[in-house]
Amino acid sequence: MRVLSGIQPTGRFHWGNYFGAIRQYIDLQEEHDGYYFIANLHALTTIRDAQQLRQLTRDAALDLLALGLNPDKATLFVQSDVPEVSQLTWILMTCTPMGLLERCHAFKEKKAKGITADAGLFTYPVLMSADILAYDSNWVPVGQDQVQHIEVCRDLASSFNHHYGEAFVLPEPRLLSDAAKVPGTDGEKMSKSYDNTIGIFEPENAARKKIMRIQTDSRPMEDPKAPETDHLYQLYQLLASEAEAEDMADLYRRGGFGYGQVKKALADASEQFFAPARQRRQELESRPDTVDDILKDGARRAREKAAEVLARVESACGIRAPS
Ligand code: ADP
Ligand code: TRP
Repeated sequence: MRVLSGIQPTGRFHWGNYFGAIRQYIDLQEEHDGYYFIANLHALTTIRDAQQLRQLTRDAALDLLALGLNPDKATLFVQSDVPEVSQLTWILMTCTPMGLLERCHAFKEKKAKGITADAGLFTYPVLMSADILAYDSNWVPVGQDQVQHIEVCRDLASSFNHHYGEAFVLPEPRLLSDAAKVPGTDGEKMSKSYDNTIGIFEPENAARKKIMRIQTDSRPMEDPKAPETDHLYQLYQLLASEAEAEDMADLYRRGGFGYGQVKKALADASEQFFAPARQRRQELESRPDTVDDILKDGARRAREKAAEVLARVESACGIRAPS
C-alpha cells in the first residue's frame, strides 16, 4: 500500500504533532510504502517571510529524520521539489466546481473570521488533491479536520475518471488515532494557534519552565483524583514508561500529592523520552550534506512516480499524445 501524508512547516513541531501524527507516520513506514512530504506550497498561504519559510522547511526535515523517519524505508521530500504536482493542480482545477471549494470548512472558517482569502487559500484542497493523486496513493493518514479534503480529492478523481477514463487511483483517508488528542499547557487541545504548545526540540530549560506553568485545578492536595481526566496525567502517560505511568496513577488515586511533583516528573520523562531524538538531530545538523542528499533522493523518487501519473493524466485529457 502506498501511504502518503503531508505536514505543513508553519511552526516548529510540538508534542501534539508528534503523538497525533508524526509517530504514526513512523510506525506506518515499517509495513507500507510511505511517502511523506513537507507541504511548503501550502504553507505559502500563511508564512509570508521567505527566510522563515526556508528555515521552517529545513527544520521540519531535520525534525522528522531525528524522530525516526527512515529514508531507507520511506520517501521524504519537499512538496515544491516535485513541480509535476503544480502541473497536476491546474488540470484538476479545470474540473473543480466552485461550490465544492466554497463548502470546504478550512476556507469557510477563515472567511468567517474575516481573514481575507486569496485564491491560494480557496484552492488549497485542489493542491492537496494533486499531492495525493500524483503518487497513486492508497491511504492518506490525516486528522479529522482533513477528512473533508480527502473527500474533495476523491470527488475530483472520480469525476475525472468518469469523463476521461480511469486515470487516477482513488485514495482512502486513514484517521490518525484519536487516542492522542494531546492537551496543551492550558488543558485545551495543544495547537500552535492557541499558544499552548511544548516544542519537541525546545531547549530543555524553556520546556521545563512551560511544564511548571501548566494550568491545574485548585482542589486540595489531599483529595484523591482520577488520573484519566487530568491533562497533566494524560501528558505524563504519553511520555513515561508504562510502569511509571501506573505508579503515578496510583498516587493520583491515593491523593496527598502536589501537582509540582507531577510536573517535575513530567519534565524528567519528556527529557528522557526525546533525548535520543535530540542527539540524532544534533548529529544531523553537523552533516547538512546528508540531509540535502536525503531530500534530493526523496524528490527524485517522488518525481519519477509523479511524472508517470502526470503523463497518464495528460494523455487522458488531450494535452499529450495518447499513450
Ligand atoms: P497545529 O494545530 O499546531 O496548527 P497542525 O494543524 O499543523 O497543528 O497539525 C499537524 C498534524 O498534527 C495534524 O495531523 C494534526 O492532526 C496533528 N496534531 C496537531 N495537534 C495535535 C494534538 N494536540 N493532538 C493530536 N494531534 C495533533
Ligand atoms: N493540509 C494538510 C494539513 O494542513 C497538509 C497536507 C497538504 C496534506 N497536502 C496533503 C495531508 C496531502 C495529506 C495529504 O495538515
